[in-house]
Amino acid sequence: MTDALRCTGLGHRYPGAESDALDGVDLVVPVGGAAVVVGPSGAGKSTLLAVLAGLTRPSRGRVEVDGVDLAAASDSALRALRRRSLAVAVQNPFRNLLPYGSALDNLRLVRRTAGVRGGQEPARLLDALGLGDIASSPVHTLSGGERQRVALASAVSAGPRLLLVDEPTSQLDRVSRDRVVALLQRITGELGTAVLAVTHDPEVAAALGGVVRLRDGRIEQ
Ligand SMILES: Nc1ncnc2c1ncn2[C@@H]1O[C@H](COP(=O)(O)OP(=O)(O)OP(=O)(O)O)[C@@H](O)[C@H]1O
Ligand SMILES: [Mg+2]
Repeated sequence: MTDALRCTGLGHRYPGAESDALDGVDLVVPVGGAAVVVGPSGAGKSTLLAVLAGLTRPSRGRVEVDGVDLAAASDSALRALRRRSLAVAVQNPFRNLLPYGSALDNLRLVRRTAGVRGGQEPARLLDALGLGDIASSPVHTLSGGERQRVALASAVSAGPRLLLVDEPTSQLDRVSRDRVVALLQRITGELGTAVLAVTHDPEVAAALGGVVRLRDGRIEQ
């Protein structure tokens, strides 16, 4: 089967920089698999996410999401890929959500924007992800951990092949963090959406598995 993500020889140097932010990164995430990128500040984690999301064009190398080569894809193919196959959850969950809408409203909006009709109904998806009891609450009334889980549910509600997540647990206490990790495990295990997460938390990395250590733009063996 086609991998959810495959990148080879990925390199990036920001204009005017004296060294590469990414230098020969090879990475494969199978369908329904997980990879966790860890590494010190400046290692290139955010740059990697931006390149994989198709937001930054890499200086060299190749990225394939769901079998589509990002560099070779037409603009319309890229738009379709971003809408349908690829989801991105940025660090602050509020930035991924409409605060005055409920969880259900947010999921419905994402599906409508992606033009998705079939697949898992929002109410069912929230139930399946253990969020049924807060499905109708306005997002601004939820706790930080609940918001993050709704943001992740919303990100996968159009049935993407790959979810890219930046620091999913950085502002959460231990209990909320464990719930977010359990949710990400359900997203890979039950929905079959592959997850690539960046985290500073070693326990989150260990729980999700597939740890990739990045330093100075390179993967450490
Ligand atoms: N927009 C930019 N222009 C120029 N250089 C940049 C830019 N963004 C990042 N860099 C540089 O690229 C390298 C990698 O940065 P990046 O932000 O990807 O690291 P990171 O691993 O996400 O760090 P952190 O853990 O602090 O978020 C660093 O040397 C950084 O200074
Ligand atoms: Mg970063």
